[in-house]
Amino acid sequence: MEGGGDFLRNSIGTRITLSIFIVVFIILLIFEAVFIIGVRQFYYGRALGILSDKAVSIANFYNMYLRYEDLYSKGTKILDNYEEEDRAELQIVDIEGNVLISSAAFLHTEKVDVKSIRTLKAGEFHSWRGRWDLSGQELLAVSTPLIVGNSDTIVGYLRLVSSIDEITAIVKDLILKSVFLSILILVLSLILAALLSGSIVKPIKHLTYVSRNIADGNFDIAAEKKYNDEIGELADTINFMTNEIKKSNSLKNDFISSISHEIRTPLTSIRGWAETLSQGLISEEETRQGIDIIQKESKRLTKLVEELLDFSRFESGRINMNFEKVDLNLLIKDVLKQYKIKFENKNLEIHYYLDEKITFVYGDSDRLKQVFINIIDNAYKFTNEGGKISVSSEHMPNGVKVTIEDTGIGIPSEEMVHVTEKFYKGSSKFSGNGLGLSISKEIIILHKGKIHIYSKEGKGTKVIVEFPANF
Ligand SMILES: Nc1ncnc2c1ncn2[C@@H]1O[C@H](COP(=O)(O)OP(=O)(O)O)[C@@H](O)[C@H]1O
Ligand SMILES: [Mg+2]
Repeated sequence: MEGGGDFLRNSIGTRITLSIFIVVFIILLIFEAVFIIGVRQFYYGRALGILSDKAVSIANFYNMYLRYEDLYSKGTKILDNYEEEDRAELQIVDIEGNVLISSAAFLHTEKVDVKSIRTLKAGEFHSWRGRWDLSGQELLAVSTPLIVGNSDTIVGYLRLVSSIDEITAIVKDLILKSVFLSILILVLSLILAALLSGSIVKPIKHLTYVSRNIADGNFDIAAEKKYNDEIGELADTINFMTNEIKKSNSLKNDFISSISHEIRTPLTSIRGWAETLSQGLISEEETRQGIDIIQKESKRLTKLVEELLDFSRFESGRINMNFEKVDLNLLIKDVLKQYKIKFENKNLEIHYYLDEKITFVYGDSDRLKQVFINIIDNAYKFTNEGGKISVSSEHMPNGVKVTIEDTGIGIPSEEMVHVTEKFYKGSSKFSGNGLGLSISKEIIILHKGKIHIYSKEGKGTKVIVEFPANF
């Protein structure tokens, strides 16, 4: 996987891990703060509640029923009736802060700070939390006024003091446990984040590696698909792309070799005849035959080169179309006329029906002618002697339809999808360089038209070309 140096880099892995860590950390921090505040409020609040309820209710009771007794005798009675079940020390403090009476077994020498309780009215209380120097204990104290006589004069205070060491211990324990749990969650989430980012980063690294290989021309390596997610989809796309590149590569290689072959054959015969002719040792008839062959073969070469040039123009989009009014029926008639002798030589039966309702179409007449020459030439090439070829044009409500049908060798169904692909040629010995139909298709598309091919092996082929009404 990745090295330590890699991890520190600004990688997706680091970013994912860091973001998850930060989010979890912040959530835990908030949770921890709320928890600590809550726990403290709950435990200390409850202790204070119990203590203050008690102090206020005792003070209220004695303020009411022993109204005219002085502080000392009142205090003594309070102490006598005080049940120490909740381990709080009861003190009676005078207005100066001196502890007059205490339920504890020792004497209080220091004064209580009364500054903060001086403003209290009967029934109110004041609480204090702190450490007592002598025992080191943490204490909670609640003071509430004691009154004497009708004038509600505050003469002293009733004070309940309780150790809260136990509560503090519980609170500390809870907080410690929660902090420990938070750290545990943080560590776990870090591990999970690292695993998660690993599971994202690793396939991406693999894809980078594969892409780099493809860029270097090594197509034998395939992208591995781990999960059915976006990265898996990317792996599929890369594999698809590799296959397409492979296909087009092999197509190109096939094409180059077939073109080389295509060019070599006529060149060989041209050269052979040129040599023979230059020696001048042959009869006049043989000489004419030689010249004929040289002419025929150079024509073939020219056609091939023209088709190649055309094709490369289509490929790069550098094609100029000259749109004008075209008489489609006349154009088809011209092509058929051009093939008349060839048809006769092969003893082919020709039928044609041209719909007179078709007036003019708008297009590039040379390019349209090229289309019909290609299709009719195929029908001618792939139909055996004595076969039949029918050509018809038809005026349609939404355009024009031209059908070219032959009773030739047909196209095997598995080849059907490929015939309009560039450089695709069938296995027949009559097949040319495989550019005719692909160039025709490009031209038809530039005229916003469509081409459909139907064929049955051994029976024949039907090619339908449609152009929209307003092209
Ligand atoms: N009318 C047809 N009958 C039988 N096969 C055909 C016909 N038209 C096209 N094909 C098949 O489609 C292939 C591609 O056609 P095309 O692009 O014109 O190339 P080419 O004519 O140079 O072979 C042909 O090689 C042939 O196998
Ligand atoms: Mg052809």
